[in-house]
Amino acid sequence: MTLTLPRWFDLHTHFRQGSAVASYIKAHLDMGCAGALAMPNTQPPVSRISGAAETDGWSIESYSTELRAAGAEVFEQLIVPLYLTRQTTAEIIREGAVSGLLRACKYYPPHGTTNAEHGLPMDDLIGGEVFQAMEECGVILCIHGEQHALSGPDYIDAQQNAETLFYKERMPQLLATHPKLRIVCEHITTRVAAEFVAAAPNHVGATITPQHLLYTLGHLIRGLKYHLYCLPIVKFQEDRAALRVAVTTTGQTKFFAGTDSAPHTTKATACGCAAGCFTGGCAPQLYAMAFEEAGLDLSSAEGHALFERFLCLNGPAFYGFPASAQRFQMEKATSQTPLLETPAGPITPLPLGMGLELTWRMME
Ligand code: NCD
Ligand code: ZN
Repeated sequence: MTLTLPRWFDLHTHFRQGSAVASYIKAHLDMGCAGALAMPNTQPPVSRISGAAETDGWSIESYSTELRAAGAEVFEQLIVPLYLTRQTTAEIIREGAVSGLLRACKYYPPHGTTNAEHGLPMDDLIGGEVFQAMEECGVILCIHGEQHALSGPDYIDAQQNAETLFYKERMPQLLATHPKLRIVCEHITTRVAAEFVAAAPNHVGATITPQHLLYTLGHLIRGLKYHLYCLPIVKFQEDRAALRVAVTTTGQTKFFAGTDSAPHTTKATACGCAAGCFTGGCAPQLYAMAFEEAGLDLSSAEGHALFERFLCLNGPAFYGFPASAQRFQMEKATSQTPLLETPAGPITPLPLGMGLELTWRMME
C-alpha cells in the first residue's frame, strides 16, 4: 500500500538554535514537511518583532533569518510566534501585525515546560490589552494549556490534571472575555480538552502530537521509557480514545498536525528528565500508525481523506495559507528510526527510544 499526500505542515515544532538547527530542519524536510511553526522557547526567547538578536531576546525577524539560513528557506511557510512575556505590550502586537512579521503569539504557563520561565499566568493576560490587540489584529494565540504552579499530586491524578483544570476553568473565561480571539489549543492530551475544542466556535482549533494519539501513561511508566516524557505528559486510555475520535470524525476542520517535536541532546539527568519527544523524520509515519490504531483503513477513500485533512489541509486552512501543491509518498513497510547525528550530539527519535519499529516507510 502506498499513500500519496500533499506535503504537510508541522504547526508546532522546535528547531532550537545554533549548530544543530540544520539537522533538525533537514529531518523535517526528509519527512515530506512543507513548512512549520517554529516555537519561540529559545534561549533567550523570541520576545521582540524585529531587529538583531540581543542578549535578552531574539526577534521574530532575526530568528526566522537564522532558521532560513539553516535550511528553512525552502519551506513554503515559516511561522515564528512571539513568546508572550511581561514585556509584551499592545503596541508591540499592533506594530508586529502591521509589519506582517507577527502572525501568532505563544502562551507558556510560567515554568510549565522546557524554557517556559518567561511565561506569565493566564489570569494576568485575560481581559488585558495584549489579548485585546491580538483580537483586533487577528493574531493567533497558541496556548500551552496547563494550569501552572500545581503541586505534584495535583499536577496529575485520576480525577483531574493540569490540562483538564485549565480547560474547565481558564478556557471558558478566555473565550467569554475575548470572543473573537483566534486560538490554537496546542498539543492537547485529554478528553476534556478535545471535547472543549470540538464544542468551541470555529476560530478555536487544536494541534495533536503523534505521541498523544499513540501512547498512554502506561507506555511511559512500564520500563520508564523516558524518551516518551514530554509536557503535557501522555494521559489515559479514555483521553487517547477521545483524541482519536476528534481526528477521525468525518469532515472535522479543527484538529491538525503539530508534532511538538522537541530535540534534547540530554534527556535523562541525575535529577530528572528533560521534557520533549523528538519525532523529526518519523512524524507522518507515526500519525499513520495512530490513524490505523484508531480503526481507519488508509487505503480506503474515506480513511485517506480523513488522514489528509488532519495532516495536510486543516492546519493551512486554520492559519490562512494554501495547502501544498507538492506531494510526498509513504509505503506500508516496516522501517527503523536511526539516531539523528547532529553537531550538538546525537538525538534519539521517539520510536527508537521506546524500542519500537515504524510500520510505514517514507519514500524518496
Ligand atoms: C518542549 C521543548 O522541549 O521545548 N517540550 C515538551 O515537552 N513538549 C516545550 C513544549 O512545547 O512544551
Ligand atoms: Zn512544544
